[in-house]
Parts: sequence; structure tokens; C-alpha cells
Amino acid sequence: MEHVTFNNGVQMPVLGYGTFQTPPAITAENVTKAIDLGYRSIDTAQVYGTEPGVGTAIANSDLARDQFFVTTKTQTDGYAATAQGLDDSLRRFGGDYFDLVLIHWPTTHSLETYRALEDAYQAGKVRAIGLSNFNPDQIDELLANSHVKPVIDQVETHLFWQQAKLHPYLATHDIVHESWAPLGETFGREMMALPEVTALAAKHGVTPAQVLLRWLTQQGIVTIPKSTNADHIASNLASLDFSLTPDEITSLRQFDRHHSIKDWPQSMREDRY
Ligand SMILES: NC(=O)c1ccc[n+]([C@@H]2O[C@H](COP(=O)([O-])OP(=O)(O)OC[C@H]3O[C@@H](n4cnc5c(N)ncnc54)[C@H](OP(=O)(O)O)[C@@H]3O)[C@@H](O)[C@H]2O)c1
Repeated sequence: MEHVTFNNGVQMPVLGYGTFQTPPAITAENVTKAIDLGYRSIDTAQVYGTEPGVGTAIANSDLARDQFFVTTKTQTDGYAATAQGLDDSLRRFGGDYFDLVLIHWPTTHSLETYRALEDAYQAGKVRAIGLSNFNPDQIDELLANSHVKPVIDQVETHLFWQQAKLHPYLATHDIVHESWAPLGETFGREMMALPEVTALAAKHGVTPAQVLLRWLTQQGIVTIPKSTNADHIASNLASLDFSLTPDEITSLRQFDRHHSIKDWPQSMREDRY
């Protein structure tokens, strides 16, 4: 497994398993499948309803808790609700810490919400804190009004929206870029059918999905593809077993459409910052 190192020294696997839209009743079973196939990083969130299933799968595995990297995301409801919400998340998950907690999306309560994460970090309830769906202006405001630097920003990133504007900002600030929807959710089929992508897949003897994932991870972008299909879960992780050349990585830049597949949140639009 390859890792990125955060600005606080904590390391995170570059590829993990996402649980958005996984029915809570089958989350434990799916996450167990992913763990058995070699995944150690799992992405959950309060709104997904998958924290209990992730916790159950980890508790039922033969591995110690410290062999895993678990991310959850809080609602952005201000100090008291976030502090309480994080304790509730830990209870649902069944542990005494998370590896990473993100503010799921910005609201007018982002600063107080972040203060609750800072306090949870100081109290040892979380090893690193970060953001999701924050644009550079919102991060600038947060940096000017906080003490603990965020380690990561998890944002929609894939072939059709490469975040060419955001990525250099994050690199300059030593904040890791993490991709959600790395396979473009419902746009995945279109991406995977592009002749340029299928040609690279054939050349390297891999699948188009593996090309799309490796293209992200080789740029230092952490990612968390989601699948309920055992073959996909295994082959997504195996995308780390080959490398694209620098020219091949560059050749895929032509497919950037510079906008979201679902226009959410609108504050991330490239013309909004
Ligand atoms: N922070 C945020 O606001 C936010 C928003 C959205 C998502 N996320 C996180 O990011 C994770 C990933 O994003 P996502 O679930 O939205 O989208 P995604 O991973 O881009 O796409 C998931 C879709 O791709 C298919 N797929 C996966 N592997 C495949 C493969 N090897 N070949 C062909 N199809 C494949 C899956 O179908 P099969 O099940 O059939 O494989 C599923 O329909 C989420 O689970 C969640 O943890 C965060």
C-alpha cells in the first residue's frame, strides 16, 4: 500500500473504500469483503448511516484497530452539536478514536464546527482533522481563524472534473487532495468507454477503471472508490500494481470539463473562487 503523509505527520493509505449509498444493513458485509481483499482505509460519514457497519466489520476482523484508517464526516452545525455529534459517531462506530474527521460541507457554521474538531483532536479523539467540499476562499478564512491546520480536502475529482484550479492551491498549503466519485458515479461508463482510456488499459493489461484510479493516485490524490461488486472491489485496489507514464498522465488532461457531474455544492464551481 502507498501512503500520503499529512502536515501533522499522520499517514493515510492512498486508496481506500467508500461507503456512500451503501445500505446500512449490508455495510458490515461489504466492508468485511473489502478488508478481506486488502483494504485498510474506510470512508464513512454521519449522513451515510454506515458508521455502525464499518465499526462492526473492523471489530469482527482479525486485525487490530491500529491496522485501519477510518474517516468519518460531521455535519456542520456549530460547536456544541458537532462535539456531541462526534461522541455519538464514536459510540455508533464502537471505538474511542477516528483517524480522520472532516467537515462534510461548508455552512455559515464552519468556523465553530471546526473549533469542535480542533478540541476533539487535542483530546485524542481523532488523529487528524480536515475538510470536504471547501473551496480556496473558504479554506483561507478557516486558516485565518483556526489553530490546527486541516490535513486534507475531500472534493469531487475525476477525469471529467480534474480540479486543476484547486489542486495547486492545496499543494501550496500542504493540504492533501482527496477525490470523491473517482469513477464519476453514473458518468463512469462514459469515462471507461473513452478510446484513449481503453487504449491505455489494453497497453498496460488493466481495466479502464484501474487507469482512472491510477491516474489519480499517481498525482498524489487520495481516493476512495465505492463498489458492491467483489471483482470491482479487488481490481480497484490492484490499480496500485501498475504505473502510467508521465506522458500518459498528461494525455488524459484533455478530458477535463471543469465542472461537477451534479453541480453540488455550487460553491465549488471554478468561477466561484
Ligand atoms: N465528501 C463528499 O461530499 C462525498 C460525496 C460523494 C462520495 N463521497 C465518498 O466517495 C466515495 C466514492 O464516491 P462514489 O461512491 O460517489 O462514486 P464512485 O466511487 O466514483 O462510483 C461508484 C460507482 O462506480 C461503480 N464501480 C466501482 N468500481 C468499478 C469498477 N472497477 N468497474 C466498473 N464500475 C465500478 C460502482 O458500481 P459497482 O458497485 O457495480 O461496482 C458504483 O456504481 C463514496 O462512497 C463516499 O465514501 C464523498
